[in-house]
Amino acid sequence: MINLNTMFETRGLKIIVTGGGGVLCGNMAVALAKLGASIAILDIDPEKARQVVEEIARAGGDAFALACDVTQPESVRAAYDQIRNRWDRIDVLVNGAGGNHPSASTNKEVALFDLDPDAVNKVFALNFTGTFIPSQIFGKAMAAQGNGNIVNIASMNSVRPLTRIPAYSAAKAAVANFTQWLAVHMAQEYSPQIRVNAIAPGFFITKQTRFLLTNPETGGYTPRGQAVIAHTPMKRMGEADDLLSTLIWLISPGASFVTGIMVPVDGGFSAFSGV
Ligand SMILES: NC(=O)c1ccc[n+]([C@@H]2O[C@H](COP(=O)([O-])OP(=O)(O)OC[C@H]3O[C@@H](n4cnc5c(N)ncnc54)[C@H](O)[C@@H]3O)[C@@H](O)[C@H]2O)c1
Repeated sequence: MINLNTMFETRGLKIIVTGGGGVLCGNMAVALAKLGASIAILDIDPEKARQVVEEIARAGGDAFALACDVTQPESVRAAYDQIRNRWDRIDVLVNGAGGNHPSASTNKEVALFDLDPDAVNKVFALNFTGTFIPSQIFGKAMAAQGNGNIVNIASMNSVRPLTRIPAYSAAKAAVANFTQWLAVHMAQEYSPQIRVNAIAPGFFITKQTRFLLTNPETGGYTPRGQAVIAHTPMKRMGEADDLLSTLIWLISPGASFVTGIMVPVDGGFSAFSGV
């Protein structure tokens, strides 16, 4: 029988977290460091990445920050070179960089017909290509060492598109599709010990969702925020900590036969028909 005491062991893992300066993935980075993993925080905003590294250092953990634009192969390759100077292997890649932008959202003023295709491309590139490129570059190292774990951060939009955000919805659907594709490809072509899975968070109040879900004047929910709560059987928004146990499980030895899946962490949103 598997050792039940080490089934969820993540101590000593070398983990790259893209978008690790952000709310959800910064929290993941801090938690994994507290469990004894070493963390490379890659973020386009070096100041945010540095703040997470400081928080990890204050807790006695091991982390370093690298400025990196996940949509640019040369930027990710430069980060790879720096990581290789410090680590002899890469155990886990969390593809967390992502998000929507108001310029790629329809609203009362901007109809679908007026959306700027460049803004649409940018959001698509951040979420899809920004998952694809790190998976290529760090996945190649995993293929060479014969093991590894990739966790993509998908969304409820991966399952069914939400109103107003067509580029983000399409990109997160592509992330879900790519998770399955890459899981099969890595296992068949390189090693069954390389696993690829995704987490699909429900609704969390963070920088990218605040303007859609909350009203800064009243402090309450917008009609969209109220609709989310009405469609979430657990009747609340998610908290960053809600994602941790799923992440730990997916990257731990206990999940060694789990690949190609997407786990919703959504308070029941994706299970609820609305009736
Ligand atoms: N907040 C939610 O409700 C929610 C729901 C589902 C999925 N998600 C996904 O979770 C992930 C984290 O989201 P969050 O809510 O914590 O957002 P966030 O904005 O706090 O974090 C995103 C981070 O990505 C970084 N980033 C942006 N562009 C980048 C680039 N080109 N290269 C590298 N880093 C870049 C940002 O600087 C930021 O630190 C995203 O993929 C998001 O799409 C969020």
